[in-house]
Amino acid sequence: MLKGKKVNVRPLESTDLDWFTEWNNDSDYTGPYEPMEISSRDAIEKWFSKESSSSWWVIEDKDGNPVGQVITGPDGRHQFIGYIVHPDSRGKGYCTEAVEIMVDYLFLSKNIVRVQAETNPENVSSIRVLEKAGFTFEGVRRKVFFSQGKYNDGALYRVLRDEWSPRVLSKGS
Ligand SMILES: CC(C)(COP(=O)(O)OP(=O)(O)OC[C@H]1O[C@@H](n2cnc3c(N)ncnc32)[C@H](O)[C@@H]1OP(=O)(O)O)[C@@H](O)C(=O)NCCC(=O)NCCS
Repeated sequence: MLKGKKVNVRPLESTDLDWFTEWNNDSDYTGPYEPMEISSRDAIEKWFSKESSSSWWVIEDKDGNPVGQVITGPDGRHQFIGYIVHPDSRGKGYCTEAVEIMVDYLFLSKNIVRVQAETNPENVSSIRVLEKAGFTFEGVRRKVFFSQGKYNDGALYRVLRDEWSPRVLSKGS
């Protein structure tokens, strides 16, 4: 368990798959910028039991209730990060702290020099999260995401190890 002040972050478990399936099949949860994907509980279970290079994480509030999810994984020699917070829990700084926790965790646990995130340039709340969590805007890649029936641009953000100092976790976490 990675502990913050507002939220904790822990690995996704098989016991999470009921709410995880329900939430990820709900477009109010995934929002207009994530790919539209509807999956059965069986399909999600099969996906969960497969080996993957990506890691899935649960954002919990301080009462232990799930409020969202984070994905991290390799992107070449770097790590990427992506995130969703339940609509009922948005605007409380939960995602920002979860991203700060994960950036700390990735730099403290892996021999990498860069963490990156890419978001639709119109996704103002996601961009705000990245700015608040210490990411720097690098540029726009054209037509990299398919959602809402069309290809959309991606605004690329990064934190380099040289630019980072722990925000939430300590070296002993
Ligand atoms: C992006 C998302 C994860 C943010 O989660 P969150 O827990 O609400 O994020 P935080 O509370 O930490 O920060 C959100 C910031 O965006 C701001 N914001 C939200 N909507 C906004 C809007 N329409 N215009 C301007 N700013 C906005 C909030 O005010 C807040 O900034 P502040 O602290 O300076 O006031 C959430 O909106 C979400 O799950 N969206 C759908 C999925 C998604 O798009 N994921 C990202 C894919 S790259």
